[in-house]
Amino acid sequence: LSNGLALTPPMGFSSWNQFGDQITEQLFHETIDTMASNGLRDAGFIYINLDDGWQHYKGNRSQNPLEPDPVKFPSGMKALADYAHSKGFKLGIYSGPGDSTCAGYTGSLGHEQEDANMFASWGIDHLKYDSCCSEGIDAPTPEVQAIVLKMSKALLSTNRSIVYHACHCGWANIWEWAASEGANQWRIGQDISDDFNYPGNREKYYFDVLDMLDRGNNITQYSGPGHWNDYDMLIVGLDGNSSQLVGTGASNLEYRTHFSMWCMVASPLLIGSDVRTLSTYDLQTLTNSEVIEVSQDPLGEAAQVVGTQDPGGDLQVYAKAMADGSYAVALLNRGPVTADMSISARRDLTMPWDRYRLRDLWKHKEHGCYDIPYTIEVMPHEAKMLRLWQVDKNATAYTVWNLKLEA
Ligand code: GLA
Repeated sequence: LSNGLALTPPMGFSSWNQFGDQITEQLFHETIDTMASNGLRDAGFIYINLDDGWQHYKGNRSQNPLEPDPVKFPSGMKALADYAHSKGFKLGIYSGPGDSTCAGYTGSLGHEQEDANMFASWGIDHLKYDSCCSEGIDAPTPEVQAIVLKMSKALLSTNRSIVYHACHCGWANIWEWAASEGANQWRIGQDISDDFNYPGNREKYYFDVLDMLDRGNNITQYSGPGHWNDYDMLIVGLDGNSSQLVGTGASNLEYRTHFSMWCMVASPLLIGSDVRTLSTYDLQTLTNSEVIEVSQDPLGEAAQVVGTQDPGGDLQVYAKAMADGSYAVALLNRGPVTADMSISARRDLTMPWDRYRLRDLWKHKEHGCYDIPYTIEVMPHEAKMLRLWQVDKNATAYTVWNLKLEA
């Protein structure tokens, strides 16, 4: 959406994955306080988004007004927005185009402009507008377009800067038409589950991490500054015992790989777990500055698969161009066994570079300077995150290595 917003993928927190509709003012205050002090805000996670369940009434909008639940949010939404803003955050809210939302609360049907005005008057900065996939997979494009545009126009006419997330499960090929007029982000599929790779997930309606990546791979060209393919909220650090999502959970490394890949494909990065109880490892996953730089690069490219290194297709090379002329690369091992993977500027990036310098982004470590392919061992379900810069053809591995160490 050409509203000048979301020029890089939005980063923040959203309440749904862990908490469902069990959300309160106190939870949001504690989330804000925690993120202000544990490094998440300063790493760029500034949108604090209420998902479904903040509303007072269940059911029919024609009989019920849209207003905050007075028990869950006794001080109201303006006060919460003021609190978020005072701590350097932005506040997001949730509604839908129907009579009721996915969890059965009152929706915005017939009250789109009124609701947009109300959100603006509260100081809201982000809206997730969720049809709950109710249009269906065969929904005619003009109908979905009309729904998306109605709220888009309503938000624009408020004159408040509100990032617009049109959540329609990827129906009507939304990416093909929503970039300039439609929305700042759109979901590319149904809900994510708390799984890295769980066979049979698709039949059960949900998408695991690998399903989502596959789904996005053919539509990366539609993503860019102001309009992003949304691979759904992050599952890093979910508490499988109480989270809202189905799934079997994932290992620390799998969550890290998931985060790496969401950065590579330039998905919005909305933390879905309880930030108050994140492990040190998960917090390190979410705050790695060099990996986040890949997500927030101003060029706004979304990585694509540029090569596969085994017959079964488990060893995938993803790459994306960065604004400074370098490339970010992920060597992703989807399979069950440790494998050697390699990267070459000529072969994988089709860049005619005689020499390239290579850096490990998770470790913040230089790997030296190469003219031949660089090979590295990648564990099952791991993604090595690398960045390659062209260097002078006379540079030797030794000089480049030392230059960096001294810097
Ligand atoms: C849908 C969305 C989820 C969440 C729920 C809330 O399922 O896809 O992300 O917002 O609705 O009810």
